[in-house]
Amino acid sequence: MEKFLNKSIKELITSHPIIGKILQSYNIDCANCSLASCALKDVLEIHSLKEEEAKELFSKLGSVLMPNEKFVIPKFKGAKTQNLKSFSPPMKILVDEHVLIKSFVALIPLMKKLDKKLVLDSVEFIKFYADKYHHMKEEDILFKFFDENLTILQVMHEDHKKGRGLVKKILESLDIDDFETISQCLKDYHDLLSEHIKKEDEVLFPWLDKNLTMHQIGFFYASCKKIEEETDQKKIIWCHNFIKNLQKELNV
Ligand SMILES: [Fe+2]
Ligand SMILES: [Fe+2]
Repeated sequence: MEKFLNKSIKELITSHPIIGKILQSYNIDCANCSLASCALKDVLEIHSLKEEEAKELFSKLGSVLMPNEKFVIPKFKGAKTQNLKSFSPPMKILVDEHVLIKSFVALIPLMKKLDKKLVLDSVEFIKFYADKYHHMKEEDILFKFFDENLTILQVMHEDHKKGRGLVKKILESLDIDDFETISQCLKDYHDLLSEHIKKEDEVLFPWLDKNLTMHQIGFFYASCKKIEEETDQKKIIWCHNFIKNLQKELNV
């Protein structure tokens, strides 16, 4: 069974179309997902089935994939209980990314002495991690599931735009060594992002999550994984190290 768990669901549905139908009977619509890039084990985990449902589903899948063979039903983190208070797995990815962004934002008031390197590294972190890697998942995937004319989504888009405007101003000010303006822009970024992330974590994301269908959750998760696969992991490590080293430097 283990070898099938790591196979992509697309491959399994192509070789055994009945698997798509079995999953659909549990409201898991990989058969109609244009990505379907998740491994079977991810599919089972992200849809947080109850324990009995997961066992039942496994035995049905096992009888298709390994007919006439005995197989052990594996255990999954998300398959035991359904914790309605927690975020869905793809939403949790965004909330977890907020943790690193919040760590950076918390360091801004402690940056008493700005130099060119610190400003450029900070801009690199904001542009690459906060804006590209993180906001891309919000703007290009999550928000697209909803009516983008909703005021709360317009506010979120507006916040992202303001952040981009501040980065532009920081770089322009760096060209003329105007560290006073840079310091003000970083302070504004601190205020903007602190509020923005609080709104997302406490209001927007719980509400959006509640209104996502199982199919959207699956697509959202697969899309996040695709972005992660296509992202240079060395840059992600650099971002984590940048924050870690800055915390050390600033005695946090
Ligand atoms: Fe956002
Ligand atoms: Fe966010």
